[in-house]
Amino acid sequence: MGKVRLDEVGYWSEIKLDIVRKYATAYSKILRKWDLSRGHVYIDAFAGAGVHISKRTGAYIPGSPLNALNVDPPFSEFYFIDLDGGRAEALRSLAGPQENVFVYEGDCNVVLLREVFPRTRYEAYRRALCLLDPYGLHLDWEVVRTAGQMESVEVFLNFPVMDIHMNVLWRNPDKVQESQVRRMDAFWGDASWRDVAYARTPGLFGDIEEKEDIGVVVKAYQKRLRDIAGFRFVPEPMPMRNTQGVRVNRDPKASGVVPLPHRLKAQSHPLCIAVPAAEADLGAPCHRVPSGFSPLDGRVSRHWEVPSSGTS
Ligand SMILES: C[S@@+](CC[C@H](N)C(=O)[O-])C[C@H]1O[C@@H](n2cnc3c(N)ncnc32)[C@H](O)[C@@H]1O
Repeated sequence: MGKVRLDEVGYWSEIKLDIVRKYATAYSKILRKWDLSRGHVYIDAFAGAGVHISKRTGAYIPGSPLNALNVDPPFSEFYFIDLDGGRAEALRSLAGPQENVFVYEGDCNVVLLREVFPRTRYEAYRRALCLLDPYGLHLDWEVVRTAGQMESVEVFLNFPVMDIHMNVLWRNPDKVQESQVRRMDAFWGDASWRDVAYARTPGLFGDIEEKEDIGVVVKAYQKRLRDIAGFRFVPEPMPMRNTQGVRVNRDPKASGVVPLPHRLKAQSHPLCIAVPAAEADLGAPCHRVPSGFSPLDGRVSRHWEVPSSGTS
């Protein structure tokens, strides 16, 4: 395997990985018992390299795709997508030659709609758990809306709080770059976020716009997930906390996770609502990095440095 750029991940990312892993395990157990199922698949749309470096310990830890491959009972198929060719290659190498693992190098906003979602149709008795874990505003609303309409796709979404804070939700909205506004529009699905993100009060020389808290924006996004995308069950977003038990998703250096389990009907078993507040709650590490993988030639990059341009 050639050189691959690995992310150095913080405490809350490890929590996120653990929650998704546990949720995926419960999901897979439930779907395995469902006689009519013609397959339940795991989709990782912003898959990463498959391995990260823990900021806490300096050790290599498995990323979400590797965790999914280790879930027992196993998913019937795996779809991993990453824009970065080196990372896609690393994932191929980690997964090895398995006919039920599909790795795509490309923009997940295109690959999901064209290649992956058509293989998870409700009418074909197929079901999917889809992790949408972008660094920032790189997810198109059309993907989320399609997942909601399909009724067969259950979604975990990492809401890009940091990128929105840094690049969009400015005190003076008129100073925000047009390119950033367009990114937010693509994520939101239209320009209505602006009415949500800024409260208007009448002033002497016209309306005064005042920035709302990010929580207001998240709430409005949840409403869109229900009312427009059609997700039946949209739980409260999960506050991410650091080792001191302090919420980190109000901090512009962190992201919040909005888990969206839905449509599993009676089988729905959302494990993802409670967040451990202290490191001890995480339990012993239960991940396995395959012996064939040698990340020693990897360069380390910081996980949460969102570029101010539209690319990651
Ligand atoms: C936060 S990391 C993913 C971490 C991974 N989910 C985990 O927990 O192990 C985001 C990844 O998305 C990739 N990426 C960025 N934009 C993308 C796009 N439009 N389509 C697919 N992948 C993209 C980046 O290369 C990066 O590897």
